[in-house]
Amino acid sequence: MMGGRVLSVASEAVPLIKTGGLADVVGALPAALGPLGWQMRLLLPAYPGVLAKLVAAREVWAAAELFGGPGRVMLGKAAGVEVLALDAPHLFAREGGPYSDAAGDFGDNPERFAALCWVASELARSGVAGGWRPDIVHAHDWQGGLAPAYLRYRGIEVPSVITVHNIAFQGVTGPERLASLRLPPEAYGPEGVEYWGNISALKAGLMTADAITTVSPRYADELMRPEFGLGLEGVIAARAGVVHGILNGIDTTLWNPETDTAIVPYSARALAGKAQNRALLQAEFGLAPVAGPLAIVVSRLTDQKGIDLLPEALPEFLESGGGLCVLGTGDAWAEDAMRALAARFPGRVGVKLGYDEGLSHRMFAGGDAVLVPSRFEPCGLTQMMGLRYGTVPVVSAVGGLADTVIGTSPASLGARAATGVVFHPVDALALRQALRRLVALHADRAAWAALQRRAMKADLGWDASAARYAALYEGLRRG
Ligand code: ADP
Ligand code: GLC
Repeated sequence: MMGGRVLSVASEAVPLIKTGGLADVVGALPAALGPLGWQMRLLLPAYPGVLAKLVAAREVWAAAELFGGPGRVMLGKAAGVEVLALDAPHLFAREGGPYSDAAGDFGDNPERFAALCWVASELARSGVAGGWRPDIVHAHDWQGGLAPAYLRYRGIEVPSVITVHNIAFQGVTGPERLASLRLPPEAYGPEGVEYWGNISALKAGLMTADAITTVSPRYADELMRPEFGLGLEGVIAARAGVVHGILNGIDTTLWNPETDTAIVPYSARALAGKAQNRALLQAEFGLAPVAGPLAIVVSRLTDQKGIDLLPEALPEFLESGGGLCVLGTGDAWAEDAMRALAARFPGRVGVKLGYDEGLSHRMFAGGDAVLVPSRFEPCGLTQMMGLRYGTVPVVSAVGGLADTVIGTSPASLGARAATGVVFHPVDALALRQALRRLVALHADRAAWAALQRRAMKADLGWDASAARYAALYEGLRRG
């Protein structure tokens, strides 16, 4: 078998630290690639609590001076995944989330993730104690963006890949930080890290990595257009020959309605259990009995996710007998809008502001439909969780949403291919019309059950995509 060693460089990974789908994907790749001969280790910051979660951790690398203080790398295991945790207390031992605290983003984020990337380049150059050295460095998002750049500017000949999970976050900082980020003067130009008079860590990665991937084929195409590329469309288009759209999967063992211990189990053949989960969910959110579809939203509450469309689009759906359960955290305006919606429709809308893994499982099990009206969506995982649980996705036709859901139309229903409701353009009117279609489908019991069963059979695992990553690594290693 072919294969080799990959160092994956990211700012979050399940089961250690998660704020979004990035963590799900980074955490799932090692198990998906292992059977194909690629041993992947994750390089992550040792945020508070991370080291305590590692089994049999030992020091494998150390430096007295790493961007303002000492740093060391601890190798250990978490849920079967080999993790290299960068322990640098001056950078990572802080209260709050991985990127910010109550006062906002950390001012030294550029240096914090530059340190992570610098260590990636060190491990690529000389390996860790005990002799492990990667054949490929695989960086994720802007936080990993300087890893390919350091490889290039330090002349370390290990091929690299950068994956774009979300181009809206570009790691931009002022040009005066060039030296403190350990970048050479020649890096500061349009062919390097310079971006409209600033430094962009994401652009640095896009310019210097040997290959660029993003998390769905549709998003790969969208990124070459200004409305989705958000300023980097020219960079992506210039490198189109090395851009690959590789769809994310979900962990179909963790997300399995037949074995999920957080719910009343059910299957496509025996959907009765789903009705029990639905009744429990209504009660948990304090809803009155819902006759129409019970919709759920499990999401970061931000502009990307189209949350502002809900108050405008939902009233007709709610008045016609639908219900809504929302779980999320995010921007203050969006949290306020969800609170206001619940106050306006007592007994029909329930909102929980927070992050709750167990509750998210109960929602996918109990919901009839999951709403994902995103303005852009590189891949999106919740529509896939919805498919897996027979919770019909209602999605905008963008990015990975368009690649994973087959919308209902007379043709797709006739061909028994539809798995959800897809709408376009991304506005409140189109969402309102999509919800009308949902209500009509739900009222036709036989058609609805057929739709649910088909959704539950969708192929959502990692096999096909892992094979594509493996082929990409293989090609890069051969040069
Ligand atoms: P993004 O990464 O843009 O936020 P994704 O759909 O790729 O969107 O991934 C979001 C992930 O986070 C999914 O696993 C989803 O179930 C989870 N998630 C989002 N918000 C919450 C929440 N409030 N509680 C529990 N899980 C959540
Ligand atoms: C980002 C994107 C999301 C994608 C996730 C994992 O957070 O917003 O669409 O599913 O990364 O790749």
